[in-house]
Amino acid sequence: MTGANSPDRRRFLAAGAAVLGAAASAQLWLPGTARAAQTTLPDGVFSLGVASGDPLPDGIVLWTRLAPDPLHGGGMPDEVVPVEWEIAEDERLRKVVCRGVAQARPEYGHSVHVDVRGLRPDRSYWYRFRTSGQISAVGRTRTAPHPHSKGGSLRIALASCQNWQNGYFTPYADMLAQDPDVVLFVGDYIYESAPSSSGPRRHEGTGEPYTLVQYRNRYAQYRTDPDLLAMHASAPWVVTFDDHEVDNDWAGEIPQDPDKQPHDAFVARLTAAFQAYYEHMPVRASAIPDGPHIQMYRRLEFGRLARLNVLDTRQFRSDQVTSQAAAQDPSLTMLGAEQKQWLLDGLHDSPARWNLIASQIMMAETDILPGEGKLWYYDAWDGYQVERNALLREFAEIRNPVVLSGDRHLTMISDLKTDYADPDSRVVGAEFVGTSISSNGDQDQAAFHAQWDPLKADNPHWKVIDAHRGYHLFDIDRHGIDAQVRVVDTVVRPTATPSTYARLRVEAGRPGVEEV
Ligand SMILES: [Fe+2]
Repeated sequence: MTGANSPDRRRFLAAGAAVLGAAASAQLWLPGTARAAQTTLPDGVFSLGVASGDPLPDGIVLWTRLAPDPLHGGGMPDEVVPVEWEIAEDERLRKVVCRGVAQARPEYGHSVHVDVRGLRPDRSYWYRFRTSGQISAVGRTRTAPHPHSKGGSLRIALASCQNWQNGYFTPYADMLAQDPDVVLFVGDYIYESAPSSSGPRRHEGTGEPYTLVQYRNRYAQYRTDPDLLAMHASAPWVVTFDDHEVDNDWAGEIPQDPDKQPHDAFVARLTAAFQAYYEHMPVRASAIPDGPHIQMYRRLEFGRLARLNVLDTRQFRSDQVTSQAAAQDPSLTMLGAEQKQWLLDGLHDSPARWNLIASQIMMAETDILPGEGKLWYYDAWDGYQVERNALLREFAEIRNPVVLSGDRHLTMISDLKTDYADPDSRVVGAEFVGTSISSNGDQDQAAFHAQWDPLKADNPHWKVIDAHRGYHLFDIDRHGIDAQVRVVDTVVRPTATPSTYARLRVEAGRPGVEEV
């Protein structure tokens, strides 16, 4: 948790472009790991770059996937390939603290997940991979603070929804410059939609992915975006999926269109989609899928400053309802009984100053019916009223709960309240819906505000709504959270001009959020 202007951070920013842009020379690799790959592999095995994720005080997951022909199944021979890795305390990798050999297995798409332990808390590390005479780019990562650490600051970037066909991932260029300690990605890393010529970029393939190879190709295409690649190489990510990593609006084992996808076929699709997700994400072995199931809800600790609860709002939910009355059925669940209890236990037992909840989908109310009565989106928490409202009542007893969401392709920043039917009900927390990296493309802002601003009267808990593409940036310390809505002027071209659309503050001990 280096401060925003610390020497460590400034040094990296000065050297960052060179470090990320060029694979380090072979001479810098220290001898000592003799078991290099015997097979000669095609050039470009590290085309998908490097990544790291799920930081611990003493550990980090390092990731790469060998794919010399990334858009056509990967292009690797059908054999196990040893991959050397090393992690160092300096960007030139002279002070190596740990190294080893990982096995890239064909059954996992030749992905490599190294769960490094024994590192020091709250500091930057640099890492790289080597196989068959080829060396990866150098990545930088960062461990979490010491478990007992109470002070310091934490900079989190919140991102979601990067539809390749809607635009270039230009917000990541700005995110890189803002140098977050960790990136939180809350879903829609890929979109499963068929190729279309209507946007600035076109999906690979000939239709929606259903098989493992098709999902691999889709992830590989997304990883060819240079800004996404650079952001993965520059900070650890904490990821979870939403619907489009599998199928629009799926719920449990129910697809969007059960008529077109019989149950067996959809279970096979879930199995393929989760496997490809694991293969491409810097997550621990606990996330290795078991058929059509994957364990993604989990907690990460940032000292005593912040506890991050990452939810899974897809696998355990009831199917979406289709009416206002049905949304109030108390038998509906978003989290499932087990995850709900896990969340409540983790909130009530938390030693942390801030209790962050990464929810794929929006928790605060969105009433889209002007005037009398309400109309909700049933895929969001609004469609699961009883469970949502019970959770919000619990928030009243939790220390500084803040929900970080995605899905909406809008910035929506709200107070969380115990009862949205009662405008005078208690404010119990804050929610940030972090717009989208590229999904929905460049929206007509005037048209958006003409349509949505009149709804503010029906939704007085909304503090900021906006339709620019971008992400949210949070500087968290024990006194408060300073939030910025960082936006770009375009995603239809590969480069963009970033700016701050809004600044907000959440004060510790005072539920709710205010624009500043
Ligand atoms: Fe999305």
